[in-house]
Amino acid sequence: MSTPTSPTVLTQDELKTLVGQAALQYVVPGEIVGVGTGSTVNKFIDALASMKDQIKGAVSSSVASTERLQALGIKVFDSNAVDKLSVYIDGADEIDGAGNMVKGGGAALTREKIVAAQSAKFVCIADESKLVQTLGKFPLPVEVIPMATQRVIAQFAAKGGVGKVRQKDGKPLVTDNGQWIVDVTGLQITDPLAFEAEVSQWPGVVTVGVFAYQRAQVCLLGTAGGVKTLTF
Ligand code: A5P
Repeated sequence: MSTPTSPTVLTQDELKTLVGQAALQYVVPGEIVGVGTGSTVNKFIDALASMKDQIKGAVSSSVASTERLQALGIKVFDSNAVDKLSVYIDGADEIDGAGNMVKGGGAALTREKIVAAQSAKFVCIADESKLVQTLGKFPLPVEVIPMATQRVIAQFAAKGGVGKVRQKDGKPLVTDNGQWIVDVTGLQITDPLAFEAEVSQWPGVVTVGVFAYQRAQVCLLGTAGGVKTLTF
């Protein structure tokens, strides 16, 4: 008689590895690929090393990703030197059933939005904890010019949100672009497009972490049952 085996439970880290590897199928040989930022994308970058001789290189969304790509021998292009990209691969802090996302947990949201905007397809890689019904569970990152911080926090307060300047080593975290991040809790973002359009116009806001205009077309979701592909 055989002993029943219990199903293997994958850790969050293993789920990230799975989706990072699965994203290779979207990389177009002979082209330059757009690369995001974060712990899930790090798994993708590590997997991308296996096909580095088949691609021209990457456009990167952060200093951290650039360093990781270059350390693996993958050429990094300035986004200004590249016209259009076929695909951009990045993680998310939250993604809803229509491909709208909250991003910026790694403080790289501005460059992420720029590279996403120059790409024809956004492939989001995430573990299943990131899938939400309505955006707003994760604190919303907003990159702000420091002198506008209090005014922006007051504007979020009028919407029921509580904004706090993100800290690092007891001081405001400074982004790759020399700006600050305000993290906003208490929001329910029921109309992501309208929300992104509105907040993007507030003076001093560099980038709001809602990605509705640059939403995902595909999400590779790491689940207990394997990688699930969602298309939007
Ligand atoms: C970086 O600024 C973010 O937008 C990341 O894409 C997001 O925070 C997801 O990161 P993880 O893959 O580390 O969860």
